[in-house]
Amino acid sequence: MKHFEIALIPGDGIGPEVVAEGVKILKAIEKADPNVSFSFREYPWGCEYYLNTGKMMDDNGLELLQDVDAIYLGAVGYPGVPDHISLRELLIKIRRGFDQYVNLRPIRLLNDSFTPLKGKSQKDIDMLVIRENSEGEYAGAGDWLFKGKPEEVVLQTGVFSRKGTERIIRYAYEEARKSNKTLTSISKGNALQYSMVFWDQVFEEVGKEYPDVKTYSYLVDAASLYFVAQPERFEVVVTSNLFGDIVTDIGAAITGGLGLATGANINPDKTYPSMFEPVHGSAPDIAGKGIANPLAAIWSVSQMLDFFGLEEWGRSVLQTLETIVKQKDRLTKDLGGQATTSEVGDYFVELLLK
Ligand SMILES: NC(=O)c1ccc[n+]([C@@H]2O[C@H](COP(=O)([O-])OP(=O)(O)OC[C@H]3O[C@@H](n4cnc5c(N)ncnc54)[C@H](O)[C@@H]3O)[C@@H](O)[C@H]2O)c1
Repeated sequence: MKHFEIALIPGDGIGPEVVAEGVKILKAIEKADPNVSFSFREYPWGCEYYLNTGKMMDDNGLELLQDVDAIYLGAVGYPGVPDHISLRELLIKIRRGFDQYVNLRPIRLLNDSFTPLKGKSQKDIDMLVIRENSEGEYAGAGDWLFKGKPEEVVLQTGVFSRKGTERIIRYAYEEARKSNKTLTSISKGNALQYSMVFWDQVFEEVGKEYPDVKTYSYLVDAASLYFVAQPERFEVVVTSNLFGDIVTDIGAAITGGLGLATGANINPDKTYPSMFEPVHGSAPDIAGKGIANPLAAIWSVSQMLDFFGLEEWGRSVLQTLETIVKQKDRLTKDLGGQATTSEVGDYFVELLLK
């Protein structure tokens, strides 16, 4: 019997609505498989918690989470709390504190009708973006000098350490080798003459150990164009924190929107727990209406199952996703259907256990 303890941080807005559906899937798997069990610990952290306590999470939050097998997060952020507070004092604190230096974002078209790209189909859009998740442009280094004065100056420093750059690039080469796919690095060496020239250099250096992996290297502006015009160029992609954030939103746009985009924050050494979450935010515009699409959050469950070594279940969840997206009447409004969030979850379980 394999047992996994999962910390739930449903968060704000639609976060709790979509997390509830992901948990529904995990509970269904537990019921169907006598060799697997899950237990859940829920934390009420997020913007409402901040408004009541002045903190996004408890001071000893990381300590409380340290011994779980995974963290399952909905979304944080809500009007009334500045986004840089909600993001930095919870999400980034966990990613950073638990050295979740790999952000895995699959960009895969599950249904031809979801892409706005003319002439592109499922065979053209199937990639895995590996985003550096611990430093780079989001390292939080900088200064704000002479605030409010005419001579005001702000500095936001990108931080690219050899250790941090090498380990993410090596992880990507390993992934490309394992899956027998090409590897594309996205950078910007022509304009960022320190950080990105260094990135390109490390990509080449590490590549010498992987002569079997076919590689490409694009500037981020060209890569953004190719994401839209020729997404079939990409299989495994490795890039920095900021560029990864942006190009994966393009990825979401060409595959059906944010309701279908997932991301895993991985600590590959398993020294700390990893965190699984949909890419979307708390969507205050639709929160509480029961119409949020839970499929991105459910896709995160598939990534979590893979991470636990339950790959068969991970695959089944993904296959069920591919099946459900072909039945428009079973989907939420953002994907052209009429179903509610919990109806999608219920039907998903039915299909999964069929
Ligand atoms: N990981 C996170 O927790 C995270 C990520 C992004 C934004 N945020 C925060 O969320 C708040 C809202 O940000 P935003 O509006 O820029 O982004 P958002 O992702 O919350 O919403 C953008 C648009 O996509 C729609 N959308 C998002 N998820 C959906 C879903 N599952 N089903 C159907 N429609 C969906 C929303 O209705 C909205 O129109 C902000 O406070 C922001 O900081 C948090």
